[in-house]
Amino acid sequence: MPTATASASAVTVPLLDLKAQYATLRAEIEPVIKEVIESQYFIGGPHIEQLERETATYCQTRYAIGCANGSDAILLALQALDIKAGDAVICPSYTFFATAGSVHRLGATPVFVDCEDSTYNICPESTRAAFCCHKNIKAILPVHLFGQAADLDAMLAIGKEFGVAVVEDAAQAIGTEDAHGQRVGSRGVIGTFSYFPSKNLGGFGDGGIITTNDEALAQRMKRLRNHGMEPKYYHDEVGINSRLDALQAAILLVKMRHLDAWSSGRQRNAAFYGEAFAAAGARVSGTAFDRDSLPLRTPKPAVKGARHIYNQYTIRVPAYMRDAVRQDLAERKIGSEIYYPVPLHLQKCFASLNYAKGSLPRAEQAALETIALPIYADLLPAQLQHVTTSVIESVRMRATNAQ
Ligand SMILES: Cc1ncc(COP(=O)(O)O)c(C=O)c1O
Repeated sequence: MPTATASASAVTVPLLDLKAQYATLRAEIEPVIKEVIESQYFIGGPHIEQLERETATYCQTRYAIGCANGSDAILLALQALDIKAGDAVICPSYTFFATAGSVHRLGATPVFVDCEDSTYNICPESTRAAFCCHKNIKAILPVHLFGQAADLDAMLAIGKEFGVAVVEDAAQAIGTEDAHGQRVGSRGVIGTFSYFPSKNLGGFGDGGIITTNDEALAQRMKRLRNHGMEPKYYHDEVGINSRLDALQAAILLVKMRHLDAWSSGRQRNAAFYGEAFAAAGARVSGTAFDRDSLPLRTPKPAVKGARHIYNQYTIRVPAYMRDAVRQDLAERKIGSEIYYPVPLHLQKCFASLNYAKGSLPRAEQAALETIALPIYADLLPAQLQHVTTSVIESVRMRATNAQ
């Protein structure tokens, strides 16, 4: 890791610095962009096929199918499972909108369930309970939030018990492993991924990919991403136009060579933050705020055998100080974000589903208390130090002022 010489007060820390990443990749990426342009092969072609092959291997699946974005990846997965109007799909409320938006786009109904306090991932007990009061549930859509695996053993067991499919929304989690060391996207019937630029593996625009071990589903999703067409100009069913560009595939193939190093860098940064925060009296998320500890909660580390890729590093502070802490960080030129300020069951567009405030309390509380900090691999030691010092000072000051 290079050593920064700037004094702490001069250090700025954007939430994400894609320019810094590109500076290290320019020499590898420019030739492949040129290669695609020279070939004039922009849709389909060898780069797409290679990315699909390499992604299937990386995700420990038999098939991978590129598509236009991670939202379409979910839509195509659910459509391939025949989910349609009148059906319901269980998904976490505490996630990015696309998880439920893709369910809605098919005319199906999202059934929102609560998260766990420790990982913010979908809660197995809430998932099981949802089967008691909702009809026509056809699938469970756990999200591997922030790059940490949801409890897939529990999800698959519930799916089996009620005879429904488990589709993994792994948009934030390429390379994440569960407690058995299995890659996410390989255990559910289908896994979906996003190449949105801010993801650990991000393109130069939109992109997505779908994984599965099921040959028939793979063939169907390949057709569905191309208007349901096969052979050319013959359509047995209606699909969408959701293809991945050859330019994106070529760029992603270059970036994939660095993915594991970036994920390791994120893990190292998370360990640095975790140690510094613990030394200051913070506890791991899932522990209630109390008088004996600093009111700061750090992400729960991966369980034994698992791999957390820290797509986000999400801390938690009491709701009363959350916005003030973010303001303090902004004044010290540290970027932060709230993932996510409004849980999906309380979004206006889902008001007709009649979820009351207080109905999913853990998701609602998390939405008031979480802050994501910069975690990308290119962070310099001085930047890491500046973040930890600033967070600790801000939380201490805000807690003292509140007494
Ligand atoms: C959990 C989750 N699901 C789905 C998506 C959708 O991916 P995309 O933006 O590529 O459509 C995202 C993207 O941020 C996400 O975080």
